[in-house]
Amino acid sequence: MSDQQVDQGKRTWLIATGCAGAVGGVATAVPFVSTFAPSERAKAAGAPVEVDISGIKPGEKLTVEWRGKPVWIVRRTPEQLEALKKNDAQLADPNSDRKAFPLPASIVDKETRAIKPEYLVVVGICSHLGCSPSDKFTPGAQPSLPDDWTGGFLCPCHGSTFDMAGRVFKNKPAPDNLEVPPYMYLTDSRLLIGEDKKA
Ligand code: FES
Repeated sequence: MSDQQVDQGKRTWLIATGCAGAVGGVATAVPFVSTFAPSERAKAAGAPVEVDISGIKPGEKLTVEWRGKPVWIVRRTPEQLEALKKNDAQLADPNSDRKAFPLPASIVDKETRAIKPEYLVVVGICSHLGCSPSDKFTPGAQPSLPDDWTGGFLCPCHGSTFDMAGRVFKNKPAPDNLEVPPYMYLTDSRLLIGEDKKA
């Protein structure tokens, strides 16, 4: 075998190894990148947030942060969903017709304001001056609430009240319903908040 032949053989091997390395690099890079958490800066700029909702029991609320805002995920009971039917006449905007926070196109049910009625997803910021309302899920008479209270949220700042779909009651300082952010179901137990359609 001549030197020329050795060199050619070696070069061929190196090229083959280089290609294999590059392919291997790509193959291992893909799963690595897909599990890479968004940077803090990307989150602040509005990167969608993935949420596991499997641990929320009926009647409970989970709060997550999206774009620096609290987003509530409430798993509503059948009784809480039934109560929504009684509120329309007392609400300022029962069908979310006002333009301040239009419902995402993926929300067709104006009463529950949700993709799946059981899970309410809203931004927990009062539309008056930006306080965060408190949970008042227990129906019935109680301080600062009407005797026929059906459950919902009370803003402690100036007394605005919202039902269990985040719809504001009439004659309160808050002008609008709570905002429903864009969101979608990745699976039955995982939500993506901040995006409502597949890329
Ligand atoms: S900030 Fe909620 S009622 Fe004023």
